[in-house]
Parts: sequence; structure tokens; C-alpha cells
Amino acid sequence: MLLSCAPGEAYKRGMIALATHKSDKTTLVLHAQCDEDIAQAGDILRRGGLLAVPTETVYGLAADASNAEAVKAIFTAKGRPADHPLIVHIASVDALARWAVNIPPLAYELAAAFWPGPLTLLLPRAASVPDVVTAGRASIGLRMPAHPVLLRLLQETGMGVAAPSANPYKRLSPTSAAQVLAGLNGRIDAVLDGGDCQVGLESTILDMTGEELRILRSGPVTAAQIAEVAGREVQTPLQHDVAVPGNVAVHYQPRTPLFVAEREQVLAARHARGERVAVVLLGGTAGLPESASVVCMPAQKPAYAQALYRTLHELDTLALEAIWLERPPRADGWADVHDRLNRAASPL
Ligand code: TXA
Ligand code: MG
Repeated sequence: MLLSCAPGEAYKRGMIALATHKSDKTTLVLHAQCDEDIAQAGDILRRGGLLAVPTETVYGLAADASNAEAVKAIFTAKGRPADHPLIVHIASVDALARWAVNIPPLAYELAAAFWPGPLTLLLPRAASVPDVVTAGRASIGLRMPAHPVLLRLLQETGMGVAAPSANPYKRLSPTSAAQVLAGLNGRIDAVLDGGDCQVGLESTILDMTGEELRILRSGPVTAAQIAEVAGREVQTPLQHDVAVPGNVAVHYQPRTPLFVAEREQVLAARHARGERVAVVLLGGTAGLPESASVVCMPAQKPAYAQALYRTLHELDTLALEAIWLERPPRADGWADVHDRLNRAASPL
């Protein structure tokens, strides 16, 4: 948490590097453990404001999904193109029918298996959904998040909230309130600080609108897990930029150039450039003297995923020439990590 439980206040401490954009709002920091702050967060949403919220994956930038003006403001705050649709977060499986139509029984089976949790289902949208949410598309992305604070807000307000990741367009998703502020302070009404995100990478997106089940973005729920519940094959097409506009090749980027390479090449870069580059290694510092720019990542996938964006955010504040990261294993269950690294990395 950033601060102790004092009612919401503007962020004043100099703990984080603020982006150099124009600040035109006072961004409040609200605390998830304060009932008054949760109530204030609900008021902000009801008034059509922008509230960054914790989810189990990454922080989201939320607005009332039934309020087109409020949703438009999300695009402005992030600098996001209007043709990139948003995911709507709902409080329960029952709420699916408010936002989607022609819902196949399998959607309910997948929701029963993986919700609340990091699986977004693309379904045919209901006519009442404002166009701005789906960028005019015929489908809508829906998920019930597993963060207790956001679930409470959704239940108390009775809303669905549209929420992309709470970062400026193309940048790394935030996994803490401090990272949200580093990118969006002065552009949003408040951030609700619910601590660090447990999962750390964005949800799996499953397109259920066609004949085939297709994963449009790899995530914490794997193709194999979905196939097991579905009892049939799940496609993971490599080229799906058209279906998911946010899936552009360059995305999720730190400001510092990131190179992903085998261990020897990473160590050679460190040897050549010294403290001007950071190295991110898997298990053990390989005899390097420990410093802010020598980072060891956990070998287990869940812990690695949880640490990845935080590590890149932290290294990004050090004004380094480059970040060299050891390529993680090509093992089962790591597809989402490789997907994000491929988008974040510069060519060697
Ligand atoms: O874990 C997550 O999914 C996080 C948290 C906040 O829930 N959200 C997130 O949202 O990552 P965002 O907007 O940063 O990424 C969602 C992706 C975008 O690439 C968007 O284009 C795609 O999902 N998407 C959303 N609705 C869609 C739709 N109807 N059709 C195709 N793609 C869609
Ligand atoms: Mg995003």
C-alpha cells in the first residue's frame, strides 16, 4: 500500500517518477481497507468519473460501462485509439445476460470453472451496450474479476465497469497503485489502492463468437485448461491483430529498450556495458555483484508472472541504456509470459 488508512487524499509524496504529461485533475489515492474510501470510489463511478481499480491480473482504469461519456474519458486519459474495445467487468455470472446475447451453455461452464478469475469471454453483445465500449464491434469482452475489493465495488454499485489496463497506451500494465500514478497521475479522478496484483499478467481472452474456440490473447488460464472443460480443441492463432486491436506487435513496453536473449548473451551485455545496463536472470546472480540493476527472477511461472511487470517498471526508473532479460523456459504454461515479452522487446 502507498499510504496508511487516511481518507482519500491527493498523492503528494515524491516516491515515484511522474510522467511528464499535462496534469489537469487532482488524482485521489483511496484505500481499499477504508469503508469511506470504498464508498467514495463508488460515488466517483456513479458520477461518471475515472477510477483505477485493483484486479487480480493488473490494475484497470474503470468507468461505468453504461455511461458512454464516462467510457469515452477512458480513451482520452490513456491516449488509446477509439477502435480498441474494452472489457466489461461484472459482479456475477448472472450479469452475463445483461451484456451479452445468444450465450452458449459452454460460456456458463467456463464461467463456473474459471470465474471469478483471469478469463475474458468474447460473446455477441447486447443491443443496449454503448458502442464506445465495444468500439462498434458485434462482440463484447466480459469477465468476473477475482479481486475482493473490485467485486465489492461491483456489487455495491450494481454496475458493470469497462476497464482496460490502467496505463498510457502501449506502456506496461501497472500491478500496483504507485505504477498507476506513475503513468496517469493528474489524468484520472482516483486510484483505489488494493495492494499488489497477485497474478501480474492480463487475462486470457477467449473468442466464443465463431465455430471454433479461439484464444486471442494468451493469459493465466491456458488453452489446455479451457480445452479440458470444453471437451474440444482450442485454437491459438498467431495472427489475430484484426480481431484484437490491442494485440499490435509493439505493446506492453517499458521506456528503456528491452532485449530478450539467452543467458550467455545477457551476461555478455553486462560484461560489455557494466552498470549502464540491467540484467534480469532466472535464478542466481551468476556471480555478478548484487546491485539495483542485477535482478533474479523466480523459476516458477506464477511467481515469475507476478514479478515481471513490477521488475520492468522498477528498472525503467533507473535511466539505463537497456534492460537485458534472460529468455524464460519454453515450457507448458508460459505462453502468456512469452507473448508479453515478444511485444515488449526490441529486436536484437
Ligand atoms: O486482465 C485484464 O484483461 C485487464 C484487467 C484490467 O481486467 N484488462 C486488460 O484490458 O488487459 P486491455 O483493454 O488493456 O486489453 C484488452 C484487450 C485489448 O487488446 C482489446 O482490443 C481486446 O482485449 N478486446 C476487448 N474487447 C474486445 C472485443 N469485443 N473484440 C475483440 N477484442 C477485444
Ligand atoms: Mg492494456
